[in-house]
Amino acid sequence: MKVCYVTSECVPFAKTGGLADVSGALPPALAELGCEVKLFMPLYGSIPVQEHGFVFAQDLRDLPVRIGGRTVHVNVWYGTLPDSDVEVYLVDHPPLYHRGSLYTDDPDEDERFLVLQHAAFAIMQRYAWAPDVIHANDWQAGLMPVFLRSSYGWDSLFSGTASLLSIHNIGYQGLFGAHSVHRAGLADDLFRDGGPLSHNGAFSFLKAGLLYADTVSTVSETYAHEIQSERHGAGLDAVLRTRGPDLFGIRNGIDTTAWNPATDPLIAQNYTAATLDGKRPNKIALLERFGLPFDPEMPVLGVISRLTGQKGFDLLQPVLGPLMQEERVQLVVLGSGDRTIEEFFGWAQRAFPERVGVYIGYSDPLAHQIEAGADAFLMPSHYEPCGLNQMYSLAYGTVPIVHRTGGLADTVHDWHEMGGHGNGFSFWDATPHALHTTIRRALSLWRTPAAWREVQRRGMEADYSWSGSAEKYLDLYWRSVHRHRGV
Ligand code: ADP
Ligand code: GLC
Repeated sequence: MKVCYVTSECVPFAKTGGLADVSGALPPALAELGCEVKLFMPLYGSIPVQEHGFVFAQDLRDLPVRIGGRTVHVNVWYGTLPDSDVEVYLVDHPPLYHRGSLYTDDPDEDERFLVLQHAAFAIMQRYAWAPDVIHANDWQAGLMPVFLRSSYGWDSLFSGTASLLSIHNIGYQGLFGAHSVHRAGLADDLFRDGGPLSHNGAFSFLKAGLLYADTVSTVSETYAHEIQSERHGAGLDAVLRTRGPDLFGIRNGIDTTAWNPATDPLIAQNYTAATLDGKRPNKIALLERFGLPFDPEMPVLGVISRLTGQKGFDLLQPVLGPLMQEERVQLVVLGSGDRTIEEFFGWAQRAFPERVGVYIGYSDPLAHQIEAGADAFLMPSHYEPCGLNQMYSLAYGTVPIVHRTGGLADTVHDWHEMGGHGNGFSFWDATPHALHTTIRRALSLWRTPAAWREVQRRGMEADYSWSGSAEKYLDLYWRSVHRHRGV
């Protein structure tokens, strides 16, 4: 199975969120299953290509890419994902990709990802490499299935190529104005009212891809159901319902080499389910890092997150003060994003200087240290397509406290005081009250060490690796191919 994997971020090269973790781990897992994978992404200014062992692809120098009636010339850097056979092609065009961040609100945001997608086709054509499937991720690659049938429909190289579009977050749809249709090189009549490119008057890369892809997937089973409802479909639920028979939920895995407390080089002490006392030195080191006092009687809650409305910190806002007053508990936060959420955590730190530690910014080592050192992990997301941090938390014996939605519902099972099962804590209603009582239930169980250990062990002993999910993707690739070839 030959797979063209198109993504806008990938560890260890560039990351803002979970898509990068998935792009860095799924393709190698597919390669282990015998797939030949070529991965395409932009060469952002922040990627130190030489450090990652990339070489300049001489044979692709000044590769022409047609965009909005003009030709843009790009270069390409070639390398592999660490410890794997996955080939990586970084599309190099500094005027578009050397910006302060991976994503922008700049007026040429559409062009940045149109060039990525056309460049992927141009590279495949140059090598006469015909993939069996194009696996496009999110709106930034959402037009790959459309281009496959329109702009490149004439090229017999791709006649056997099927497409799969994966939705990592329906909240981001790639919405642009009418001028973008021309930039994309697509026919205006596809953009008429009710046409496949048009969504409430805007040109939506994601909607277009959803209609053209042979199959569609998202990153957990529950989210696959949720997005077909008005409440969670972000306006695309009707479109998704029409794709119902071709829409699948495959839960993300985690990279168990990078996220394993037994071997993690970034944490103070390694530990396993059998040596859970090893969490204590990690907790001490974590508190020291945040300048907070260590008190063996105080559990620590951790947060690692993009600070956006999706993540549900508005639920925490009204209850954090009361919680700090009624419970002996500490909180450490790592994240950045919306100013109002950053300010809320800043306030909490000033109001409870011995109890709340906040780091506004991005730090991979600190993320590992929070997973290892915290007792419990907070993830009150309003919606969560999959979520990786709750799985990292389970693997690190850091009991997750989550809103029961999307991938959180599929991975975290509420502890039952009576029945004695569950691997964490979850609540149904997205209300401050429900979050408050759930945190208090968790803190109360923490004071019963034997039961707490049992919950920790259940999380640590389960398998969240990619192996099962990668097999499901491979099945889905075959399904896409069969659908496309009319088998
Ligand atoms: P999303 O993709 O919606 O942000 P996920 O839970 O799928 O949510 O993935 C988030 C990923 O980004 C995790 O690997 C998490 O550790 C990482 N992450 C988020 N914010 C930060 C941060 N400020 N510093 C380091 N890592 C972060
Ligand atoms: C998105 C989602 C997150 C998911 C990640 C990787 O960013 O918000 O829930 O885990 O993509 O699929």
